Amino acid sequence: MTYSIDVKSYKPAVITVNEVCFSWSAEAVVLDSCSLQVPQGEFWMLLGNNGSGKSTLLRLLAGLLIPDSGSIVMPHKTGFVFQNPDHQLVMPTVGADIAFGLVSENLSPVQVRKRVQEALDAVNLLDLERRPIHALSGGQKQRVAIAGAIARNCEVILFDEPTALLDPDTQLELVAQVRSLVKKRKLTALWVTHRLEELDYCDGAFLLKGGKVVAQGEPNAMKQKVLAAERQ
Ligand SMILES: Nc1ncnc2c1ncn2[C@@H]1O[C@H](COP(=O)(O)OP(=O)(O)OP(=O)(O)O)[C@@H](O)[C@H]1O
Ligand SMILES: [Mg+2]
Repeated sequence: MTYSIDVKSYKPAVITVNEVCFSWSAEAVVLDSCSLQVPQGEFWMLLGNNGSGKSTLLRLLAGLLIPDSGSIVMPHKTGFVFQNPDHQLVMPTVGADIAFGLVSENLSPVQVRKRVQEALDAVNLLDLERRPIHALSGGQKQRVAIAGAIARNCEVILFDEPTALLDPDTQLELVAQVRSLVKKRKLTALWVTHRLEELDYCDGAFLLKGGKVVAQGEPNAMKQKVLAAERQ
């Protein structure tokens, strides 16, 4: 794994995007020499208008798309939590869904059980190991998706508007829980959101506009910048 250094924090960057360009077609340029770095152990958010390329950037980070030019450095083990958990949870029960993500690791049944239970415990869902997925609330489903990434020992988790379908209380519970997991387990996370109140939980945020990161920094300053941009 190659680490580069974030010059502002002097912490090693775990996510590095270096002058990445990406277009769906010649007329549809989405990212235009886009660069950012997320320091190790930090929780950063990605803001930007509808269609500004946030989901495309996350898909590039997850290796689901390939940049036209530029480079991306990411750890091998990266988790992804989507806006709609029904697009990502595929097995009938909570425990089976998390175990399914471990298939490629060739673990013994005892090792799988241990990883599944440890991950469920981390998101406070140990009691729901045998619960059918369809009987979970939206917030519980998102926590199962996070437990899946924890069970796989992911160093980075990418979140694409994971609270968009949640009510306000569940939304803030989820973002607070992710912050606490990032800090306790020394994870690194990048979280896409439109909801400015979530910024209170992050270490810093990026604003994507015109295919580039046009502003970045600590949450309060970024909140003011986004509000000012909306007033223009
Ligand atoms: N599969 C695709 N094929 C062609 N164009 C696409 C595809 N996916 C996204 N786009 C286009 O790329 C641009 C960026 O889309 P993207 O979904 O990354 O934006 P976003 O910032 O995530 O928006 P939102 O806030 O609405 O989720 C948009 O113009 C979109 O229409
Ligand atoms: Mg999107």
